[in-house]
Amino acid sequence: MYTVGLQSAADAFLLASLQAQLVIALVLLFIIIVFGIGAHKDDGHDENSPVFLPGHPLLSIVPFFRKRFDFLNSGFRITGQSLFQFNLLRDTVVVVSGESARKAFFANKGFDLTEGFKVLSGAIPMVRGVTSDLQTRRIALIHKRLSAVQKNEPLNQLIVPILEDTQRVMDSWGSSGTFDPFDKVYELIFQTTVRSLSCAELADDPAIVARLKKLYDKLDSGTTPATVLLPWFPGPSMIKKLLATKEIYDIVVRAIDARIASGISRNDSLQMLLDAGDEKLVVVGFIMGLLIAGARATGTTASWLITFLGGHPDWRGKATDEIKRLLEMYSPPESTSAKPSLSSHLASIPLEAWEAETPVLDAIIHETLRVAQPHTAMRRNLGPEVSIDAKTIPSGAYIMYPFSDVHLNPELYPDPWKFDPGRKEEVQTAFGYVGWGGGKTICLGQRLAKVELKLITSMFLLGFRYDVVDSTGKRPEPLPQPNWNDILLCRPAKGSCYLKYERSELPL
Ligand code: HEM
Repeated sequence: MYTVGLQSAADAFLLASLQAQLVIALVLLFIIIVFGIGAHKDDGHDENSPVFLPGHPLLSIVPFFRKRFDFLNSGFRITGQSLFQFNLLRDTVVVVSGESARKAFFANKGFDLTEGFKVLSGAIPMVRGVTSDLQTRRIALIHKRLSAVQKNEPLNQLIVPILEDTQRVMDSWGSSGTFDPFDKVYELIFQTTVRSLSCAELADDPAIVARLKKLYDKLDSGTTPATVLLPWFPGPSMIKKLLATKEIYDIVVRAIDARIASGISRNDSLQMLLDAGDEKLVVVGFIMGLLIAGARATGTTASWLITFLGGHPDWRGKATDEIKRLLEMYSPPESTSAKPSLSSHLASIPLEAWEAETPVLDAIIHETLRVAQPHTAMRRNLGPEVSIDAKTIPSGAYIMYPFSDVHLNPELYPDPWKFDPGRKEEVQTAFGYVGWGGGKTICLGQRLAKVELKLITSMFLLGFRYDVVDSTGKRPEPLPQPNWNDILLCRPAKGSCYLKYERSELPL
């Protein structure tokens, strides 16, 4: 469990004088320099080893934290190789690209996602009893429960609450206005993700949902070179992350305890976990871990999807027609005079139709993931040593595969930055599209994410007329482009992209 006294230790540290923090920072710098220089191992020129990034081992990796997309691209450019390596202090990281590397990366049994993510992401502090003890067995159980949430019946039962949450949040936007989709649409997705993956006690309380989102944002924004390179060092960022993790943990545990104490059974994911008799660590791990995994990726996708449609009226029209066709089929106009809300109207479309009768929405989601999901897959080679393109990936090394290698490759996707859901589906190369992962690591929340995206997009398209505008209120030329250097949300430059909306009165 959380070590007793962590909170007071953290508070004390944050309140420590500037002087003390400066001394610590200098010591830290010293450690980094000593260890960093010692870690560069490019002396042997072993021709079986991937080439090292040239330059000072520490300075050359600074952009890894700040501008990862540029860093990886320039690594390939500078080395002129399809594989290169660099050191994160004592750890070796190999970045790979190209078809044979993809095949090895996605298929190799020794390449472990959890180990790679844990070290290279630095997003979630490892707290004994909360995050670091989620070994393979517990993670497997969490994945099993996640697939249970997405079986036909539970997923079907999520449609109404997701639509109702969306209706409530959209009503709060008023009849017209301008907002940043990367704030507002993401907030909406956060709400529906809390609804889908946790419990009514949290999802019914907008203040708690807002607090949770703020805390998860703190975890994201608190990821610094220090938290990745020296995760054990209690620097200010790490302390802030620990405090945020602890508060999230407390909120989740309070909700679980309240449910157990009430003795009332509710129809949600928490109940499913409790009824399965899972130990508390699994229940907490499910909610804490999947909330962030689910909300971030789905939030990025939804924000960009709605923005892209704002700039592409042709595809917006096709998607709107598709949803209206489904409504005509499954929700013929009522003879009563009372007009149903948009959410209850859409709720009459069954799950099977959302999944199997929406080729336009499917194509739009597919293309959004290609062009606006800035994922770099991370693994650790748990052994044995592997050869990729005649270069050795030692046991224990970390391996990275940037999805831009395929998704932004002009040979596979001509004019790759162009949003064009009409592209031909099949790319003739192994793992030519990895929007939901590939090989042995396929997204386990895919079914829920797709349904959530379709429901929210439908509510937005039928509920509002809207345009993409810049900070002056004019349509930006060119339209905003996804920023792959923002590794979490892919947000364009702050202030460059807004949606101007007006509620529409569609005949229902
Ligand atoms: C649009 C939304 C989403 C996208 C684009 C997405 C994409 C991905 C991708 C590309 C991977 C593979 C990562 C890799 O190989 O490094 C992955 C894995 C995963 N995703 Fe998602 N995801 C989304 C939503 C979700 C949601 C909502 C959940 C949970 C409810 C989820 C749970 C997971 C899990 C547990 C894994 C790890 C699978 C494993 O360890 O084998 N994802 N996702």
